[in-house]
Amino acid sequence: MIIIDGKKVAAELKSDIRDEVIRRTSLGLKQPHLAAILVGNDGGSETYVAAKVKDCHEVGFQSTLIRFTDNVSESDLLGAVNQLNQDPSVDGFIVQLPLPRHINENKIIEAIDPSKDVDGFHPVNIGRMALGLPSFLPATPSGIQQLIDYYHIETSGRHCVIIGRSNIVGTPLSILLSRKSIPGNCTVTLCHSSTHGLKELCLQADIIVAALGKPGFLTGDMVKTGAVVIDVGTTRIPSAATKSGWKLSGDVDFNEVSPKCSYITPVPGGVGPMTRIVLLQNTLKAAGDKKQ
Ligand code: GUN
Repeated sequence: MIIIDGKKVAAELKSDIRDEVIRRTSLGLKQPHLAAILVGNDGGSETYVAAKVKDCHEVGFQSTLIRFTDNVSESDLLGAVNQLNQDPSVDGFIVQLPLPRHINENKIIEAIDPSKDVDGFHPVNIGRMALGLPSFLPATPSGIQQLIDYYHIETSGRHCVIIGRSNIVGTPLSILLSRKSIPGNCTVTLCHSSTHGLKELCLQADIIVAALGKPGFLTGDMVKTGAVVIDVGTTRIPSAATKSGWKLSGDVDFNEVSPKCSYITPVPGGVGPMTRIVLLQNTLKAAGDKKQ
């Protein structure tokens, strides 16, 4: 069993991005600039956005954080999106999700200029991805593909069961892995809360991606010997052993499942670090060959 070291792969890719920024600077190209809109004070969102700002600093990107309280109006938020759309200094930006319930998330995402949508959430980017056209790929699915690629894991013709059909992970990953590409060319089964016979489907899988947000959901009796298991879960659970009082838990029961696997991603240190890298890669792509 090989534990996929997402932290190590992410560190290598981050170093490549840093080198690319230095190369760009020497050519007189623009410093890539990522902006983030954060609404409210959700603990998870605060942590993720702070990490994204830190990443930008470390690779030499400019970053801007725009904050709103959670009673911001939809029209004020749309105004901020439009401002970033029109700001030539900003190459790409994200609106951290989830948004408060009174705001229509789809309306906000659709307002983002697709050429600055470095999250790859806009319908134009999702449509282009589905057709195999150049686009910004959503961070977690692309990060998973890059991990599979790094470890030379065979995917062609293999049965991949994805548990969870979210717009950010399960659904786009099912499209990417079923396309005729490397990695890809899988037979994909996209499972969700209404799927019958989930255990039997998982037992047929060569690759299982658990992305449903239920700690420890995938147990040893659901996995065949030699399977590849990718754990996308990042649920905060109470812990007396950490200073913060919580720790991250994946969707996979690691102790039960790992002895049966050929490859498995841990939580933390598996998919998570890769997700942050893809955002940087997409921002670099958005900056393109713009001059300083
Ligand atoms: N919330 C959880 N993951 C993400 C992400 O990748 N992008 C944004 N904008 N919000 C998120």
